Amino acid sequence: MLRVTINRETKLNALNRETLSELHQVIREALENDDIWGLVLTGAGEKAFVAGADILEFSSFTKEEGFALAKTGQTQVFDLLYHAPKPIIAAINGYALGGGLELALACHLRVVSDTAKLGLPEVSLGLIPGYGGTQRLTQLVGRGQAMEMILTGDMITAEKALQIGLVNYIVPAEEVQDKASALLNQILKRSPAAVASAVKAINGAWAHAEEGFALEMKEFAKCFGTSDFKEGVKAFLEKRNPNFRNE
Ligand code: COA
Repeated sequence: MLRVTINRETKLNALNRETLSELHQVIREALENDDIWGLVLTGAGEKAFVAGADILEFSSFTKEEGFALAKTGQTQVFDLLYHAPKPIIAAINGYALGGGLELALACHLRVVSDTAKLGLPEVSLGLIPGYGGTQRLTQLVGRGQAMEMILTGDMITAEKALQIGLVNYIVPAEEVQDKASALLNQILKRSPAAVASAVKAINGAWAHAEEGFALEMKEFAKCFGTSDFKEGVKAFLEKRNPNFRNE
């Protein structure tokens, strides 16, 4: 097995272009390597798994750039994880927010620390999730819970995440990595070919979901053209509450 650690601790492992490109590279190589049968994905440090896409990096994006951001990320990282023929487990060691939670959602299973907080806070930035969150969260927890998390943008506790089926296991913070490895090793005792087929068949339940993903990208891009988006990211960078005007 391979443990992949997103290592940008001072920015709570936020996903910038470089991190996403490195992730793409390492996942692709691991999937092509016959000696690696499965992956654990985690974040560096004790505070965060990943606190989202890098807000500073996309703060002045246009609609077109917003669309490209979602499309490239989806294709190169999120879809790659979701459809991977080898089991991939997210070890959520702290904040999993926005693109960070979407990353965990794209993995096959999730183990979470009892101190972690999870959420899709994009609406507080004048945005919506753009890396498949509207689709994959809904698949996992159902429309009602997904609506509440995405429309309020509020974070939930690890306990609540377990209760709604968003994560598979909750363990004390110091046990997250071991639990994720143990779970992966359990799967790795099974037939790799059968595991690959199972992932494919399970994902087949949403084989016709492309329209939803495309719609998410379109709506995500649209948000970049609003002044609410400009106000949302400005407020985050100035460490204050946003003042939205529906413009
Ligand atoms: N993008 C860019 N930088 C981020 C970031 C993100 N998504 N999340 C955190 N950071 C940076 C902060 O700007 C800060 O940088 P600085 O030290 O240069 O000021 C550093 O990481 C530490 O974060 P900070 O906000 O000071 O920590 P905190 O403990 O006060 O708050 C959070 C933690 C997770 C609640 C807060 O960082 C947060 O809300 N992050 C954004 C979450 C989000 O909206 N994600 C979705 C993006 S689409």
